[in-house]
Amino acid sequence: MVMKRRALVTGGAGYIGSHTVVELVHAGFEVVVVDNLCNSSREAVYRVEDITKTSIPFYEADVRDQEVLDEIFETYHIDSVIHFAGLKAVGESVENPLRYYRSNLDSTMTLLERMAAYDVKTLVFSSSATVYGDPQHLPITENAPLSATNPYGRTKLMIEQMLEDTVRSGGDWNITSLRYFNPIGAHKSGRIGEDPHDIPNNLLPYIAQVAVGLRERLHVYGSDYETPDGTGVRDYIHVVDLAKAHVAALKRAPHPGEYKVYNLGTSHGTSVLEMLKAFEKACGRSLPYKIVGRRPGDIATCYADPTLAHLELGWKAVHDIAEACADAWRWQSRNPEGYATSEPMHADVEILAANA
Ligand code: NAD
Ligand code: UD1
Repeated sequence: MVMKRRALVTGGAGYIGSHTVVELVHAGFEVVVVDNLCNSSREAVYRVEDITKTSIPFYEADVRDQEVLDEIFETYHIDSVIHFAGLKAVGESVENPLRYYRSNLDSTMTLLERMAAYDVKTLVFSSSATVYGDPQHLPITENAPLSATNPYGRTKLMIEQMLEDTVRSGGDWNITSLRYFNPIGAHKSGRIGEDPHDIPNNLLPYIAQVAVGLRERLHVYGSDYETPDGTGVRDYIHVVDLAKAHVAALKRAPHPGEYKVYNLGTSHGTSVLEMLKAFEKACGRSLPYKIVGRRPGDIATCYADPTLAHLELGWKAVHDIAEACADAWRWQSRNPEGYATSEPMHADVEILAANA
């Protein structure tokens, strides 16, 4: 009999985590989720259960809660962990750096300690292209110089160092850091997607909220960059492609004693105005925007060389930004208030409604 592999997903109710849980289940993994819901909704996991027709054990808890982690490792035979849980708002990290250091660093340390205690040595970590700072060369390869310009970015750099030190310390750890470029889009079903709790910081969710009428217009941060149209250029990657990379990273985990780092991007740069046009096409109307000053800390251009992930993980992005915009629009238009939009989603609710 073939034993199913079981992964613990921290932050599995979040944007990237929820999409990854879907892909893990489709790939034959069993999944347990721990999330304190500080930036997400329980509804996301119910919807993932509906999409996958699978029951997913869910713990509403902080990853820093050692007792809960012990309970999970004692209850389930976990053989790998994907660690998404973390705070990610750059501006907030500048205003409240200690909250970011406390939360992001402590949760990773607690997780590693509990994994060691239960002899679980395979970990995939959510890192970010932010660790490249303002890149000197494009496209960016994994061996480019690292730097960070804000506390959020520094937590990612520090955690990467922590992980590398842990692998070097012996004990057969195998750890992968995945450096995401700019995740966008949503699952094809339109039932899970990005649901920012506050005013969106990132471009795509902001445009989507303009399209659905929640915001008046997009503010384009600067049109005087050295880019073809003067607006910032980024490497936008469909969240389902990103999710599949996590499955690949578990299936082709490094050998014991190895630490690996991969860029997850498409190698294509897209400007703010190009992205706006792509979204206009997806939603079928023009969207108001205004050019304003540059956002402090922003860089002109950033896109990945994802060759290593293709060579070693057998992964590459297959969805383009037109598809990502269409999928994001499906999610946003069906769920204008995100997960707070009332909809009888999970099976038991549908059955109750049908019997009423
Ligand atoms: P998200 O906020 O939607 O997901 C993170 C999840 O972790 C949320 O559900 C949140 O409630 C949970 N969480 C946070 N701290 C926790 C803790 N201490 N204990 C338990 N749960 C906790 O964000 P996302 O976009 O899905 O990002 C996932 C990961 O990827 C984060 O680590 C983020 O820094 C990283 N990342 C994201 C992006 C991006 O643009 N979305 C880019 C690069 C890296
Ligand atoms: C941001 C984070 C970065 C993180 C990355 C992925 C900041 C300063 N940086 O980077 O740490 O790793 O997301 O999560 O927040 N833009 C507008 N108007 C908007 C929003 C964005 O014009 O309302 C522009 C930006 O100037 C940029 C592009 O759109 O040129 C993309 O912005 P964003 O989605 O915030 O991503 P990053 O800047 O790459």
